Amino acid sequence: MSQNKTSLLFVCLGNICRSPAADGVVRKFALDANLDVEIDSAAIGSWHIGSLPDSRMRACGRRHGYDFSHRARQVSPLDFDRFDLIFGMDQQNLADLRRVAPSQKHQEKIRLMANFLTDHPAQNSIPDPYYGEDADFEFALELIEDAARNIVQRLANGKPL
Ligand code: 4NP
Repeated sequence: MSQNKTSLLFVCLGNICRSPAADGVVRKFALDANLDVEIDSAAIGSWHIGSLPDSRMRACGRRHGYDFSHRARQVSPLDFDRFDLIFGMDQQNLADLRRVAPSQKHQEKIRLMANFLTDHPAQNSIPDPYYGEDADFEFALELIEDAARNIVQRLANGKPL
């Protein structure tokens, strides 16, 4: 958002499960690493605008020492100018983000969160836990922590994302 601070936006379908968790985890890891990073999250859809994260994801976060308290908002074409990089959670998110991007050049800012996994090399998305059970929320958070650790480590080491 500002000129010299790296800014990252995390996007999923509803902005109440995966992306507010990614927002909270990357925020905490960056703080722990003393990195000054601008972080936010947003939805593809408009259904949950203004809502706190899903109570199941909030409870899952609490079990792992996080406080997920983002208020959902919808991604906008302006976000492609405000943020350096925009991370989607699955291939559908990427396709939707390409549609929202104001130009082809802006599409180059889009990344797949799962491409930063190292402990789960066979996993090519962060699956949507919304219609799942507690175990699905736990697995989503486990994946998010894996990717977030590598994203923050690359930032700390000055490596490209
Ligand atoms: P999220 O999960 O994309 O990880 O926030 C979802 C939340 C809500 C809906 C779908 C996915 N929904 O259809 O309302």
